[in-house]
Amino acid sequence: MTPRAELAAAAPFAAAAALAVALTLAASPAAADAPPAYPQGAASFQTNCAVCHGATGAGLPSLAPPLLSYPARYAASAEGRRQLAITVLYGMFGDVVIEGRHYDFRMPDFGQLDDASLAAVLNFVVFDLAHAPSSVAPLASAEIAAERAHPLDGAAVREHRKSVAPTEP
Ligand code: HEC
Repeated sequence: MTPRAELAAAAPFAAAAALAVALTLAASPAAADAPPAYPQGAASFQTNCAVCHGATGAGLPSLAPPLLSYPARYAASAEGRRQLAITVLYGMFGDVVIEGRHYDFRMPDFGQLDDASLAAVLNFVVFDLAHAPSSVAPLASAEIAAERAHPLDGAAVREHRKSVAPTEP
């Protein structure tokens, strides 16, 4: 075969391979989206949270809730920001209704991570996953430290949630 004929023969395969790559990229939201505003939080999320909440934060039915809207609402109020901090510090258990679905499983506590790491993973959730507006201030390590000083259990975290989340049927 001449080089030109070889190229012509290979072309359909090259096109198919390019298409496969394009489809793979399109199927992966991380690749299609802009890079995360909180890359360290993103890495921590993939390590610590994605197993339950999914790599894109969409949640897993009956296992773990989506993190695509409530975290942004929480971050806009002082009590909501406390809720975010205590959820990662102390975990949460008991029935909750989020976007019309019940979740009654146990969110583990991540108190072993330091304050800066917890603030980073929450900022990834609030800004990169839940798309809070830029008028919302990022969570600071000091806000995590303030809640670490007042230990709670996961049931109390769920009780506090009632005061910051809209009631759903
Ligand atoms: C073992 C599974 C699991 C892992 C790992 C996990 N979560 Fe959760 N998460 C849950 C469950 C289950 C709930 C709901 C708890 C309930 O039913 O009371 C929840 C609830 C939450 C909520 C509250 C949502 C709301 O609307 O109030 C936030 C925020 C959250 N998780 C963030 C995280 C972050 C950040 C990480 C990683 C640092 C993480 N989760 C790791 C299972 C998990």
